[in-house]
Amino acid sequence: MGRYIVYGGKKLFGITDIHGSKNAALPVLCGCIINSGLNVIHNCPKITDVFNTCHILERAGCKIKWDGSTVIVDSSKARFIVIDDELTGSMRSSIIFMGAFCGRFKKAVVSKPGGCRIGKRPIDIHIESLEQMGIVITEGLNCFSCSAGAIKPCEINLRFPSVGATENIMLSASCADGVTVIKNAACEPEIEALAGFLTSIGAKTVCENGKITVCGTDKFNDTEYTIIPDRIEAGTYIAACGCAGGEIFLKNANAAHMREVVNVFGKIGCKISFCDGGIYVKSSGKDIMPQNVKTGVYPYFPTDMQPQLMSVLTLAQGTSIINESVFENRFNHALELNKMGANIEIEGSEATIKGVTKLEASEISAFDLRAGAGLIIAALTCDGMSAVNGAEYIKRGYEAIDESFKDLGANVRYESR
Ligand code: EPZ
Repeated sequence: MGRYIVYGGKKLFGITDIHGSKNAALPVLCGCIINSGLNVIHNCPKITDVFNTCHILERAGCKIKWDGSTVIVDSSKARFIVIDDELTGSMRSSIIFMGAFCGRFKKAVVSKPGGCRIGKRPIDIHIESLEQMGIVITEGLNCFSCSAGAIKPCEINLRFPSVGATENIMLSASCADGVTVIKNAACEPEIEALAGFLTSIGAKTVCENGKITVCGTDKFNDTEYTIIPDRIEAGTYIAACGCAGGEIFLKNANAAHMREVVNVFGKIGCKISFCDGGIYVKSSGKDIMPQNVKTGVYPYFPTDMQPQLMSVLTLAQGTSIINESVFENRFNHALELNKMGANIEIEGSEATIKGVTKLEASEISAFDLRAGAGLIIAALTCDGMSAVNGAEYIKRGYEAIDESFKDLGANVRYESR
């Protein structure tokens, strides 16, 4: 496991490009198996989870070719394979190959996605929903086996707007012989991105106010599609500027996807403005206003920005409370921040953060990718050298985060171990 070495204590100044969204690229790449044709996907982030997804596509017979940040997926010769845990590794998002394979091949065998540090991550909603679509699912020791004569179009009402379950349903429904309606669906920008991709290959998909309508088809076409910018990556750099101070410009960031993040960091004290080319952030890094924030499903404050927000609030002029309502165990970074001198108490789903005047450069460890980003942000505020262990977690979701921070004038470098 590598680590990031951070020499903090100075403000950020500079411009950095926001890459394509990890959580849009993964479902779109899975969807490339469906059209049995050519998929030219632009603005794909070069991150571990994307490479792992492409590896699974290749093992299933797809031809993959990279050209800069464009990945070309030819799925014309794709064939059914068992997606076992040797293939999925620790990548939980491989569970949405279930929906894509059931769509294309009317069968799937996918290894059980384990839980992770942030929660048990069950997939009961995925299973219940796909079963409503006529897919027979058998749970084995390590995997789920799925088969269907045909994918049955139906109306599905989700008990919780699960992102992954919504994506699995959309992917299967694209091959149904009729229209599938998903109610109480996830409505993240990444869901809209998948809808746009499915429409581009021939399965018209419309998202409106938590309801998704998928017009299944058996006639697909080739496509050329561009991945949306990563709203969580952009939010990460807003948070960094919010506590380190400075003036930065995030090229290609789409403020329309991050209204609540912009709202909260505006209240914290960041001056945020936007043009169609990106987002401009200015902050003194001082007089950070405490906040009470509850994470929630889109469009509420995203759980994937919670660790980054916590890092900023450790230096607020007062006490803040964060309520993590999406995952049951997503405060591991608090212990690491306390090692740096923060004053955070955890009680169930609530973190109480009493602002301190400064944090101390330390050696800390990340156990998930957003926690890792949050710890780098905290280290940027400290004089001296910090080491953030667990770089491989961070590389799963951030393309060259050290290079991006270097663009912004910060001294962050990767060190393999
Ligand atoms: C997606 O995970 C994202 N991952 C996560 O981003 C993100 O945090 C999450 O959505 C919420 O926005 C990708 O898109 C690859 P969920 P997913 O199904 O689909 C419970 C990151 O850092 N649940 O919406 O797994 C579940 O336990 C990652 O980029 C069930 O109970 O999220 C959790 O508490 C982390 N049963 C909540 O719903 C189910 O069948 C949200 O899960 C499914 C989910």
